[in-house]
Amino acid sequence: MGEGMTTAAFPALRMRRTRATAWSRALHAETVLTPSNLIWPLFVTEGKGVEEPIGSLPGVSRWSVDLVVERAREARDLGIPCLALFPNTPHELRTNDGKEALNPGNLMCRAIGVIKDAVPDIGILTDVALDPYTAHGHDGLIDDAGYVLNDATTAVLIEQALNQARAGADIIAPSDMMDGRVGAIRNALEADDRHNVQIMAYAAKYASAFYGPFRDAVGSGGMLKGDKKTYQMDPANSEEALREVALDLAEGADSVMVKPGLPYLDIIRRVRDRFAVPVFAYQVSGEYAMIEAAVAAGAGDRDALVLETLMAFRRAGCSGVLTYHAVHAARLLGG
Ligand code: PBG
Repeated sequence: MGEGMTTAAFPALRMRRTRATAWSRALHAETVLTPSNLIWPLFVTEGKGVEEPIGSLPGVSRWSVDLVVERAREARDLGIPCLALFPNTPHELRTNDGKEALNPGNLMCRAIGVIKDAVPDIGILTDVALDPYTAHGHDGLIDDAGYVLNDATTAVLIEQALNQARAGADIIAPSDMMDGRVGAIRNALEADDRHNVQIMAYAAKYASAFYGPFRDAVGSGGMLKGDKKTYQMDPANSEEALREVALDLAEGADSVMVKPGLPYLDIIRRVRDRFAVPVFAYQVSGEYAMIEAAVAAGAGDRDALVLETLMAFRRAGCSGVLTYHAVHAARLLGG
């Protein structure tokens, strides 16, 4: 042991010194969390003046377009920079080819248009995938055996992305995990003169058990045949996540997403270290439900759990987080 080691050790060094007071803890915080780090996912439903609570997501509702606009104002006033919209497409409009996704007058496009008119200074992120529109609940087109077809699906996703961008979407977020779709969507946006429409790729999206309540929220859960393991990633893999991210960046993604969130903080850190690009995480529906269940069981304090989990994403290297707790967190953060 050299002398240097002795001088840097106890009692010359007491790690607790800087933790002793609130002002000192604030001064030494390595990471900050603000409302500008939050993206709020919102579920939209048909009708007027409609709020439909979602049983498996206590505290989260589907809103009709007129009320979703009020939520957008609320978010903007709290300093939340961006919303992520998901439609609960009426069941009679769900088909095997998901063609309602391409309708310029669909629920999603109407919601985008109305929010853009009323609250032009908030960003709108839209999910590109067919699951809220297909009768079988998959993100793409399936063959007779139920296998999700890659290239045929991508051809439809391009049109879905254009449909959303023309309605006013600011960030296109392909969540479908088809190969090659980011480049194909980028080319289509450029050809349509939509140079500033961003792409946030769900780059490392895992076939996860944490998506259940979301599928209830968009009404695809009960319809889903089989699972999504032939297109979403295996939770066993981490090297593969880096390859997925590298490909999506090469194809023109402006930012990448890791999903789910907390169980995959290791992936977030690896992506950030390797690529130094904006990384986002989706703290998904099952994670939200787990926190709410813990609170309901008296096993934890909501405010503290929410802020600690969101800070963990920032510490792991995230630029921002999609979270159903966005408004609650923004209020706690003084937004
Ligand atoms: C659909 C999509 C899913 C989520 C976001 N987009 C579900 C899925 O892939 O089955 C999950 C979000 C959540 O659980 O909160 N492509």
